[in-house]
Amino acid sequence: MSGFQTCGDVVRFRLLNRSLFLVAHPRDARHVLQDHANQYDKGTRGFQVLRVFLRNGLLTSEGAHWLRQRRIVQPAFHRDRIAGFGDTMTSAAGDLVDDWLRLPSETVNVTADMMRLTLRIVGETLLSTDVSQEADRVGQALHTILHGANEAISRVVPMPAWWPGRANRTQRAAMRTLDDVIVEIITSRRTNSGTAATTDHDLLSMLMEARDEETGEGMSDAQLRDEVMTIFLAGHETTAIALGWTWHLLAEHPAVRQRLEQVLDHALDGRPPTMADLPRLGYVDQVVKESMRLYPPAWVVSRRPMVDDVVGGFRIPAGSIVLTSPYVTHRHPEYWTTPELFDPDRFDPKHPVDRPPFAYFPFGGGPRQCIGNTFAMMELVLVVSAIAQRCRLDSTDRLAIGRNPSITLRAATPITMRVSRRAAAPA
Ligand code: HEM
Repeated sequence: MSGFQTCGDVVRFRLLNRSLFLVAHPRDARHVLQDHANQYDKGTRGFQVLRVFLRNGLLTSEGAHWLRQRRIVQPAFHRDRIAGFGDTMTSAAGDLVDDWLRLPSETVNVTADMMRLTLRIVGETLLSTDVSQEADRVGQALHTILHGANEAISRVVPMPAWWPGRANRTQRAAMRTLDDVIVEIITSRRTNSGTAATTDHDLLSMLMEARDEETGEGMSDAQLRDEVMTIFLAGHETTAIALGWTWHLLAEHPAVRQRLEQVLDHALDGRPPTMADLPRLGYVDQVVKESMRLYPPAWVVSRRPMVDDVVGGFRIPAGSIVLTSPYVTHRHPEYWTTPELFDPDRFDPKHPVDRPPFAYFPFGGGPRQCIGNTFAMMELVLVVSAIAQRCRLDSTDRLAIGRNPSITLRAATPITMRVSRRAAAPA
């Protein structure tokens, strides 16, 4: 709060000879991401790093190419088309609880387990394959790439992609592995087209069938590969991070957790949650939203102005970097009272509070808003419900968990917790 009072709504700082502007007010985030989005591109360091791995996929591409891709891919993420993935999400979470409750020790590494869980979910919904097993080459390659991207972004002096060092060689090998597997799967689906093998109801099959409404064209194999890679990466770490912080917050706020458990027991009566239960799981939705208010996994969304602009009264020269930050804006004192307090009732639909659109934007906003936001919310609510219904996670120590803001807002150390079976829970 004092930061807002001291610094105001726009903060300018310099890094490696470049001017960076952090904008905190929802009005200014909206200006950059939505109202003047066509004057800004993604030529910032974070996206340059990601582009090496995700090439021309939706997250990193720009201009006419991006627009065409977005038009083709968007329908596959429509609520009705992804509703069928609900059971995959719930049963993956159920299997994790089974594993936990069979363990000889009660302590679990929630950070690692949430990553494995969301990786399994994205693998099964995208390619109908479980890639979360220890020995799985896709899972390993993704881990290497994610690790490499986070390392690269935190380096003060960027290492060029052509540099023949070990890190670059490892990254390239991981990329080749992923490329090979994805191209193999695409080729085999094309070859088997019209046979039983193509009845897989997964995102890849939807993407392969998708056509641009205006031109009737589909995607090339190279484009499919970039989109698959993007969905893999964009679609699992963010969700895992949101889950990790949610378990931490629930453990720190027993009254919220108790209310959540009551809602689950009442709504589900011991059955695993399904999509049909979502309307009765509104409180879970509130908890997840409030968790992402305090710990938005994509804590900063950066842009580069292509022409001079004025934002919040400040002149922003072309070529500088503008950082919009859900983490900062979600604490803006004009829109959030006691901003550091975890209070899911802020999102109670019965008591709506009038806030401008970009006061809360964990999924970004404007034309580049997260294409997977409905998928992610569905996954978060179903996974939290399926786990909290059966077990309780408690903190192993009283130490505050630090934040490690990289591309995503990770916990500084792995979140380890004590797991116990809930007394009233189904076996
Ligand atoms: C809690 C989970 C998630 C969070 C917090 C999140 C956040 C975001 C944000 C902030 C953006 C906008 C980036 C920008 O404007 O530069 C974005 C874009 C994107 N997200 Fe997500 N995301 C999540 C889950 C997912 C999932 C589950 C998928 C796919 C299954 C996904 C796929 C994408 C893609 C493809 C884009 C690029 C969209 C475009 O530019 O057209 N995300 N995400």
